[in-house]
Amino acid sequence: MRLQKLVSLMKEKGFDGALISPGTNLYYLTGLKIHEAGERLTVLVVSAEGEYRLLAPSLYENVLRNFPVTFWRDGENPYDKLAWILAELHLSDGRLLIEDTMRADWLINVINLGPFEFYPLSSLVRGLRMRKDKHEIEAMKHAAKAVDRVFEGILSWDLLGMRERDLALKIELAVRELSDGISFEPIVASGENAANPHHEPGKRRLRKGDLVILDYGAKWKEYCSDITRTIALGRPNKKLLEIYEVVKEAQENAYRVVREGVPAREVDSAARETIAKAGYGEYFTHRTGHGLGLDVHEEPYIGPDSKTVLENGMTFTIEPGIYIPGLGGVRIEDDVVVLSGRGKRLTRAERELIRL
Ligand code: CO
Ligand code: CO
Repeated sequence: MRLQKLVSLMKEKGFDGALISPGTNLYYLTGLKIHEAGERLTVLVVSAEGEYRLLAPSLYENVLRNFPVTFWRDGENPYDKLAWILAELHLSDGRLLIEDTMRADWLINVINLGPFEFYPLSSLVRGLRMRKDKHEIEAMKHAAKAVDRVFEGILSWDLLGMRERDLALKIELAVRELSDGISFEPIVASGENAANPHHEPGKRRLRKGDLVILDYGAKWKEYCSDITRTIALGRPNKKLLEIYEVVKEAQENAYRVVREGVPAREVDSAARETIAKAGYGEYFTHRTGHGLGLDVHEEPYIGPDSKTVLENGMTFTIEPGIYIPGLGGVRIEDDVVVLSGRGKRLTRAERELIRL
């Protein structure tokens, strides 16, 4: 279990304990899948001595086996039980790591349980999670293959006249058929709507002359993929065709920079400079990419301010875009892994402009 790695790091860095609420860090460290804890206090307490105990609502009595758990029932005060566990593990004070996404109402109660100093759990776990092992990379390859196959399917659909949101739903169903689920709700942005990078698919119908941004992802064994392709319907105007070529070149140039030992910000600047040189710098309004794994957005972030140096096992997206208000937009996104010192695309769907 990876929890042992966390314990050694805690000792090394002088932390006394950690409180880990449900989420991808809990899954990463223990393999426990607790997705729908909701408002009921659920927290793993870990001490730097290597002892650990989960506090969970009694709803989980029949599913959590072979793990040290204390259950609490509706009507009981779970924080009394948490205080008891903290005392058992000699954690009534000291430096505690807290899961970054812990609900504020839980944290406010935890604050009252002792004189603690709090630190974000991510400060220790992100270094572990950024470097994927071969099982994680294998899962990500599957997730990437699923979205590639969905893209091939989309090209055979009758897209003209379809509403954005109907296409988004069709993509979602296709992803679910080929994987364990979606990693986020698909984005379909057509025509002038494509000028908004996070457009929410609406009632607009796809029509001739549109460029359409399709951004969607799959999960396989908890690991995410995330792909964007921009396709053409009929004959888009010259300007749109021009920005497509610029984005494609920027994406390729960024990809070619990926190597072990290269600062992540150089991947960003390769894309950014390509777009700036073509005169569209002001229309590339986001970072070039983000890390990908159990979360669809995680470290390392590929932006101008990134301090990460690329290492083997790192997985992230490269997704430059150009968005021109009133006209439309283009984004091309691939998932990339650093393997044996070099970048390798996990998503392989066609990147040349496809006209339907
Ligand atoms: Co995406
Ligand atoms: Co992305």
